[in-house]
Amino acid sequence: MNVLVVGGGGREHAIAAAIAQSRKDPLIFAVMAKKNPGIARLCHDFLLEKETEVKKIVSYANNNNIDLAFIGPEAPLAVGLADALSDIGIGVVGPKKAVAKIEFDKAWARNFMRKHGIAGCPVFEVFNEREPMFDFIEKLGNVAIKPAGLTGGKGVKVMGDQLPTIKDAQEYASLLLESGSVVVEENLVGEEFTLQAFVDGDHLAFAPTVQDHKRAFENDLGPNTGGMGSYSDAGEILPFLCAEDVKQAKSIMEHTVKELYAETGVKYKGVLYGQFMITKNGPQIIEFNARFGDPEAMNVLPLLQTDIVDVMSAIVSGTLDKLDVRFNKLATVCKYAVPAGYPDNPSKDKEVSIGDVGDALVFYASVYEENNKIYTTGSRAIAVVGIADSISKAEKKAQEALDNIVGDLHFRRDIGTSSLIQKRIDHMKEIRGKS
Ligand code: AMP
Ligand code: GLY
Repeated sequence: MNVLVVGGGGREHAIAAAIAQSRKDPLIFAVMAKKNPGIARLCHDFLLEKETEVKKIVSYANNNNIDLAFIGPEAPLAVGLADALSDIGIGVVGPKKAVAKIEFDKAWARNFMRKHGIAGCPVFEVFNEREPMFDFIEKLGNVAIKPAGLTGGKGVKVMGDQLPTIKDAQEYASLLLESGSVVVEENLVGEEFTLQAFVDGDHLAFAPTVQDHKRAFENDLGPNTGGMGSYSDAGEILPFLCAEDVKQAKSIMEHTVKELYAETGVKYKGVLYGQFMITKNGPQIIEFNARFGDPEAMNVLPLLQTDIVDVMSAIVSGTLDKLDVRFNKLATVCKYAVPAGYPDNPSKDKEVSIGDVGDALVFYASVYEENNKIYTTGSRAIAVVGIADSISKAEKKAQEALDNIVGDLHFRRDIGTSSLIQKRIDHMKEIRGKS
């Protein structure tokens, strides 16, 4: 069995590591823009190429008799890589362009949710003109402003420390309007969580819920990043959620998959990522992504008990309901080491040395190797994952590992700590009105 992994980040390292554990003993191939040393070590062969070079990837897959492909990032999905690989008979985990649109066109996604009555869609409008947009921002009063296209999670700004006043929100929206449509929506108040599922077109197999930390600095301050770290609890429910919240979020995702087919006639096959805000009115949808989250993939994939190659085959054949997809009931804490100054003014080409990480997992992201040394590139560099029977034990493992990774690096010490978790719990109690 020949399996292709597309993408070269921490998420794809976690995907490749899960495939490498398969009892089917597959040969792993990869396509990545830059050589990720962690993925390269797991591969039989790899192609260094931009993940959006559809023709070159298809020909590489064809020449290497690829049976199954797992597409990690959103950019290749947005240019139809899943369609092109399926066209030559490869089983693809990663949705076709028509349905991956749920991620890469935020305006389309919101209109789709409204049209199909998907629960948990916030009040929003899409704008191409300034005046009505300014009026709507004033009317809503507390808004989130989003460019309609892909921005790597960094184009969204919400009112608060990022946009202190209505005028700031209007100015930012006006700036975004210069490069395309702008989505203005209500600023949802609550706690965020991520729910990811394998999807075979009809059935969903859910991973445990995860909480990511988008802001660059401790106490959730500073600019948005791709994600600085994330945690999950032993079991599928985060400490600030209740079973009903997760049940509702699952049902929203199931409904979404069904309606995506009704809207497009294309079955969604891959990973669906629901980013939710748990509010006093239950889970509200911040956005959907058409792939695993990065870092959230690194929380859930190491817990997957079921052989991932079986999961991939079931996604392709539409038989996920026949497979018992299980995750170990352990807590995980993932923390990213990022270059100092990330994301606005990151240092680059600085050596990173990895010391004793104990039994924490290490996933390489945007780093390169030269003469057996690892260097940063300016983006998120290396992630560590601690796994234990409680979040606080997992956090200690991750932090100890991180303390032995040396370089011109920054990380968030607070992710997964008991005091931060308690803050989340208290915040939700306050929101639900039980405090
Ligand atoms: P996104 O790129 O859509 O994931 O947005 C990045 C971050 O902006 C999210 O993780 C949220 O923290 C925040 N955000 C996006 N939309 C909203 C919203 N409607 N209300 C509150 N926060 C939001
Ligand atoms: N961690 C957020 C994302 O992957 O979009």
